[in-house]
Amino acid sequence: MSELRVKIGEIAKRRGFYWKSYEIYGGLGGFYDYGPLGSVLKDNIIQLWKEHFVLKDGLLLIDSPNIGPELMYKASGHAEKFTDYMVKCKKCGHAFRADELLKSCMENPEKLDEKGLWKAIKENNVRCPDCGGELGYPERFHLMFTTQVGLNKKAFLRPETAQGIFINFPILYRLNREKLPMGVAQIGKGFRNEISPRQGLLRLREFNMAEIEFFIDPQADFPLGEEENVILPLLTREGKELKIKAGEAVELGILSSPIAYFMARSLKFLRALGIDENKLRFRQHFKEELAHYSRDTWDCEVLLSQGWVEVIGIADRGDYDLKRHMHYSGRDLTALRRFKEPKRIKIKKLRAKMDVLGPLFKGEAKKIAEIIDNMDYREGDIEIELNGKRVKVPENAYEIVFEEESIGGERFIPHVIEPSFGIDRLIYAVLEHSYYERAERGYKVLKLKPRIAPIKAGVFPLMSKEPLAKVARNIVTLLRNRGVNCYYDDSGSIGRRYARADEIGVPFCITVDHTTLEDSTVTIRERDSMEQTRVKIEELGDKLINLIEGNLKFEEV
Ligand code: ATP
Ligand code: GLY
Repeated sequence: MSELRVKIGEIAKRRGFYWKSYEIYGGLGGFYDYGPLGSVLKDNIIQLWKEHFVLKDGLLLIDSPNIGPELMYKASGHAEKFTDYMVKCKKCGHAFRADELLKSCMENPEKLDEKGLWKAIKENNVRCPDCGGELGYPERFHLMFTTQVGLNKKAFLRPETAQGIFINFPILYRLNREKLPMGVAQIGKGFRNEISPRQGLLRLREFNMAEIEFFIDPQADFPLGEEENVILPLLTREGKELKIKAGEAVELGILSSPIAYFMARSLKFLRALGIDENKLRFRQHFKEELAHYSRDTWDCEVLLSQGWVEVIGIADRGDYDLKRHMHYSGRDLTALRRFKEPKRIKIKKLRAKMDVLGPLFKGEAKKIAEIIDNMDYREGDIEIELNGKRVKVPENAYEIVFEEESIGGERFIPHVIEPSFGIDRLIYAVLEHSYYERAERGYKVLKLKPRIAPIKAGVFPLMSKEPLAKVARNIVTLLRNRGVNCYYDDSGSIGRRYARADEIGVPFCITVDHTTLEDSTVTIRERDSMEQTRVKIEELGDKLINLIEGNLKFEEV
């Protein structure tokens, strides 16, 4: 484990960001608890995501259940295909994800199939990382957790939130006044029975996702708008690395417009989170690596101490999901493509022949003729319902005619572009990219962006005596009433208090000193520059909120 990961893990546990779950019972691999600071950090990241995507892109936010019926996951393909290759140690019996094991000795093991993995394990003499034992042949391991609803109805815990969106397409499309493009977002838990997860927040068995399913008409234009000039760092599946404007990548045919659009939007979001832009890339999946539903996928990866890690997957799912759910459910999940001008088309219609129907059906012939005239085109004998009875009408009782009709549009299955964000991986990435040690005495600092920092301010009386302490307490109340998450601390030297605040990423510290008693001003200290400035208590709330929101720079205070 890298030194940096150990340091982050240590702060996380000691200060209350996150820790391994169920420790008093020996732990359970792949499950973590968020503590008081981690829970707020997570909420703040989700809040920023909602503002960045749901609000600004005008998405519909929904919230569907974690547990889903087996048939839905048969339709989605997950029941059959949601697997990873596992290898087991013949000596100690421990299991490992085959491609993960090979990562340290070869490039792109995710491309390999079962035989390829086995060959690579043999050629590289890969042994069990736990006991050095010999590894067995790769087997497919299914990643979904199974459960039971009621007495015996088989169900799964969702491995992605996406399916809850797809199956609701008709309702959402109606709510969107039958207009495309339509973006739908969902934030919630995903569950995957990962093989041997040992990477902290990066690989959990229960994790937090924020997903967008963006429904488009594949024949319609998709303007990039102001995202056109965002520079994207790309790594294509041919191994080409380039930094290119989103618009140019589309012109050159490297990216489709919707993928380029969401890359640019994602990059801006990561920037707002404080991810280091020099440690970020979009890597295209190899053909062999694509998920069963995907036509093209680009992973947004960030460079962490253990190497490049996927934090967002941007997939072109085409019409795969809606088509499959249409087939399995028998429901109509299409959208309407409206023509600019109504089109005149010739269609085949049925026309009843009264001279045949009359003798056959006597008094009912007229009614039957009416039903046939209004039917869609078909061939052969027809069965119709008349007065609650099934009536068979022979083929020679109608003829086929061509009629001109004017139509306003046609039905089609929308395509879906899916940006899928792993919130836990983002939390860890933010912590790593925010961490540094001060030259002086190696004090640890998390330079969390004020917007996402769990605590925005520490309020310190210079001494724990009255009346300084009371003024400081009043300031805490004043700030909390304005919605600013802050705390009071009077223990130890001011230096120690600053250091404690820096370590958990508190961006601003407010100190009440003797001058405060004379002129009602306090000092604000900015975490990274360690600069200080005095402000009036009556202006403190506004100034701090503007600093947190990024509307005011510290130099301008
Ligand atoms: P990996 O290849 O690392 O297993 P994946 O390709 O299966 O990931 P996706 O299916 O694209 O991941 O999932 C979408 C996002 O959900 C990922 O970008 C990642 O951020 C997050 N994610 C997926 N699996 C996990 C996990 N086990 N723990 C935490 N986050 C995860
Ligand atoms: N919804 C994307 C994924 O889980 O892969």
